[in-house]
This record gives sequence, C-alpha cells and structure tokens, in this order.
Amino acid sequence: DRTLREVAESRGFDVGAAVDADSLRRDASYRTRLAEEFSALTPENALKMGPLRPTPDTYDFRDADAIVNFGRANDTTVRGHALVWHNQTPDWFQSWDYTDDQLRTFLREHVHTVVGRYRRTVDAWDVVNEAVADDGTMRETVWYDAMGEAYVDRAFEWANEVNPDADLYYNDYGADAVNGKSDAVYDLLDRLLDRGVPVDGVGLQLHALGEWPDPASIAENVRRFQELGLDVQITEMDVAFPAGEAPDDALERQAEYYRDVVDVCLETGVDTLVTWGVRDADSWLRSFRDFSERFTGDPLLFDDRNRPKPAYRAVSEALSE
Ligand code: G3I
Repeated sequence: DRTLREVAESRGFDVGAAVDADSLRRDASYRTRLAEEFSALTPENALKMGPLRPTPDTYDFRDADAIVNFGRANDTTVRGHALVWHNQTPDWFQSWDYTDDQLRTFLREHVHTVVGRYRRTVDAWDVVNEAVADDGTMRETVWYDAMGEAYVDRAFEWANEVNPDADLYYNDYGADAVNGKSDAVYDLLDRLLDRGVPVDGVGLQLHALGEWPDPASIAENVRRFQELGLDVQITEMDVAFPAGEAPDDALERQAEYYRDVVDVCLETGVDTLVTWGVRDADSWLRSFRDFSERFTGDPLLFDDRNRPKPAYRAVSEALSE
C-alpha cells in the first residue's frame, strides 16, 4: 500500500502534522510515521516566541533546529509557526517595563533574527497568529496596544525583508466557515492588501471541536480569500466530539468529516492540510485540562498506539480518487 505521503504527493498535495520536539527526539516510531506519512510539518511550539526567547538577550534554537533539520533530512516542507502571537510570549515579558518603541524594536529584531536563521529551510511562515478576536474586533494584545493594527503590517514587512521567497500567512481559528469572525479576517486581509502589505495567504486552523464547520461553507470561505489573490491552507486540523457525546460510530463520523474537508481542498485547489499532531496521544486536547473536559481526545489520524485510524484511510482514499 502507498503511504499517505505517497498518495498525497502523487497529486501535488501536502498532508502535514504538528511536531513535538520531545517526541521527535525520544520516539523512533514517531519519526518513522512523520517521515513516511507526512510531506509537511509545523513545529507545534518550538518556533514560538516564548520557547525561543528564554532571556531578553538569548535565543534557544535547539528544539526548532532539531525539527527543521528533520524536515530537511526528509525533504519535508516546513511551516514556521508563529512569529507574532499573544500567547506564549516570553515569561520575562511580565516583568519588562518597556516603552512602545522598545517593544516594536524587540519585535522587529525577533522577526528578522528568526526568519533570517531559517531563510533556506522554512518555506512558509504563520507571521501573525490570531490577531482577530472572536467578536470580529482586533484582539487587544501587547502588540496591538503598543503599535495599533500596524503591528500586523510591520510583521509581514520585516519577515519579507529577510526572506522575500517565503510564503507569508495570516493564521487564525474559528474562521473556517463563512461567519462573523471570518468576515472580520477577510476585512483585515483586504486592508492589508490595500496597504501593500506582503501577505501571501491565510491559514485556516480548522480545529473542529464539538460542532464541525460545514464543508460547503468552508469552500465558500476559501473561495473568497482566493478571490483576494491569497493562497489558503488548512493549518491545524483536528476533529473532536463534545466530551461524553461521542456516538458509537464516532471514528467513522470523524473519518467522513476528514474526507469532506479533503474533498473541499481538492474542489477549491487548497493544496496543504496540516493535522495538529501525529497520534491522538500527542494531541493538545489531552494536555489542556479545560479542553480535555470539553472534547473527546482522539482527534487525529493515528491512534495512541500509532496505528492508522478510519480517518487516515478516509484521507488517503479521498486523495486517491
Ligand atoms: O515545554 C514546557 C515545559 O518545559 C514546562 O515544564 C511546561 C509547564 O509549564 O510547559 C511546557 O510548555 C507547554 C507547551 O505546550 C509544550 O508542551 C506550554 O506550557 C503550553 O502552553 C503549550 O501549549 C501549546 C499551546 O498552543 C500554547 O502555545 C500546545 O502544545 C499547542 O498545541 C497549542 O497550539 C495552538 C497553536 O499554536 C495556535 N492555534 C491554537 C493551537 C491550540 O491551542
């Protein structure tokens, strides 16, 4: 049988997974699955500001280098995630009494240094992650408070300055179907493009948790971003039921939804779908207490023992048709 990667690559499609540095280091079967079954990868945490910046004057690239080097060794597309986000900022931020200008200078230097280091190895970046609040307004983060919406413009410009060849994405959750939030994301991207900001695409995370975005509405949403001239990728897909409400045929229902999303990708020309982890046991839904209380913890393509699930077969079949 062909692996998922072989099936996907035979039609110019990238199926990817979020990668945890410890699992990569520790577990040969994890490395094998990653190399054989996925043609793209996203460091789950290693390229975030917090892990990279243990102190104001130092970077810790060890985990990120290990994952990026694994990608190079296996000819796997690497998606950098995420240069600017309101979560996982460095711990020492809490005690740093900075001026707006000092924060701006810090962010510029961070983006230049990180994108510059991986200029030849990271093909795509989630430059700004989750800048739009759930109510459609701009999220009032440290970055927004210091620089206003222009922090988004600057982040993309700084990334583009050091790597004009990288594909630069805006990434968000809950904006997968046509809804108030995806309207606001659309409007933000429209403004950025009007201001000549070098944004190439939008990442729809597609954390399908509890209620699953309607595939037809996802297709409609994808198309309007494409009409702006943007590439669209599914960047963090996982599929879970409300805790305690999984039906007897849960794995089959989950498989059908993965199939429906792959069909939407093929219909609309989306060529990258990243799942947020390799095995169910790796899922963030297991480690986040509030999420693990709300949703079932088996959202991915491989089960706890690294075996392909019905969802794996459904994705492979959808790509084989
Ligand atoms: O590695 C440290 C460890 O040294 C420390 O002892 C421990 C306790 O503080 O924390 C560990 O770091 C944790 C990290 O995951 C690695 O396990 C962080 O606390 C924890 O916050 C972090 O959670 C990640 C979360 O983003 C927040 O950054 C999840 O793994 C990751 O799956 C999740 O992914 C996000 C995307 O980046 C953006 N979209 C939403 C998605 C789900 O929240």
